Amino acid sequence: MRDKIEQLLAEVEQLAARKEQELEEIRVRLLGKKGSITQLFDEFRDVLPEQKREIGQVLNKLKVAAAAKIEELKAVIENSMEPADSQYDLTKPGDKMELGARHPISVTRAEIISIFNKLGYAIAEGPEIEDDWHVFGALNFPPEHPARDMQDTFFITTGENPILLRTHTSSVQVRAMEKMKLPIRVICPGRVFRNEAISARAHCIFHQVEGLYIDKKVSFADLKQAVLLFAREMFGENTEIRLRPSYFPFTEPSAEVDVSCNICKGKGCNICKGTGWLEIMGCGMVDPAVLEASGIDSKEYSGFAFGMGVERIAMLKWQVKDLRLYFENDVRFLQEFDTVV
Ligand code: PHE
Repeated sequence: MRDKIEQLLAEVEQLAARKEQELEEIRVRLLGKKGSITQLFDEFRDVLPEQKREIGQVLNKLKVAAAAKIEELKAVIENSMEPADSQYDLTKPGDKMELGARHPISVTRAEIISIFNKLGYAIAEGPEIEDDWHVFGALNFPPEHPARDMQDTFFITTGENPILLRTHTSSVQVRAMEKMKLPIRVICPGRVFRNEAISARAHCIFHQVEGLYIDKKVSFADLKQAVLLFAREMFGENTEIRLRPSYFPFTEPSAEVDVSCNICKGKGCNICKGTGWLEIMGCGMVDPAVLEASGIDSKEYSGFAFGMGVERIAMLKWQVKDLRLYFENDVRFLQEFDTVV
């Protein structure tokens, strides 16, 4: 009995091999050199010319169908010959799933936006390709201002009212003043372009978030309070700010904002270059001429504006000193930021 069982077991195991052999025999019988289909092709020579077309078609159809069927059955048998465990290796580790992370600039930008959202600022966006009026003219830049020079700005066309890549998102603030109903309270995040040689400290593309608030009786004290609130939300509740007089064509008075260095707590270190302060943005009261240029009555309304570079804020946040790293998209750099959301 045992012998019989073993014999049958061997037969079962050889079943597929036998079937494959049988199939090969059938193939030879039909399509081999002397196969019956091949022979039909020989006989085809004698078919009457007027029947050649019709018979030729069915004959070809037969050959194709036979070959396809045989291939199909061969595949079925071959598959069944493979032991299951060699077809699927269940011990093999799965493909690694790389987890993405948000870019540090996106994280910083989102943080800035969320702080100003809490203060009631809406988001305004505008085109990156702009005209001279929205980037310079409406903002009180005199005709000979260096920013209007090819050295500093990427021009797409030149002439009367040239088309250019915006050098700051103040252009969006102009569009907001033209379009929106007063009072206006917006922030304008976006990409800006300046014709700079790329180095660790300068890049031809960077990101800004600028803000604008226009209402009746907006004062410099309101500006200072908004900036202080932002600085404390962004850099910690013990952060102090310092305003230094500055100049922008579109604000009067204008100031540069520094925050107390949160690395050395104001004592002076190499990040703040021993001063205890770090510059984070420019700001000022919107020049009445700018309000008037966008059709706002400067006797009734006043406002403030501010603008910061997102890369600069990110640099202070993470102490990344080379701007180029933000644009190279080297995965090793991007993985440094534990910012998976
Ligand atoms: N637009 C200025 C810049 O790009 C920043 C700024 C905005 C300064 C608003 C003052 C007020 O440098």
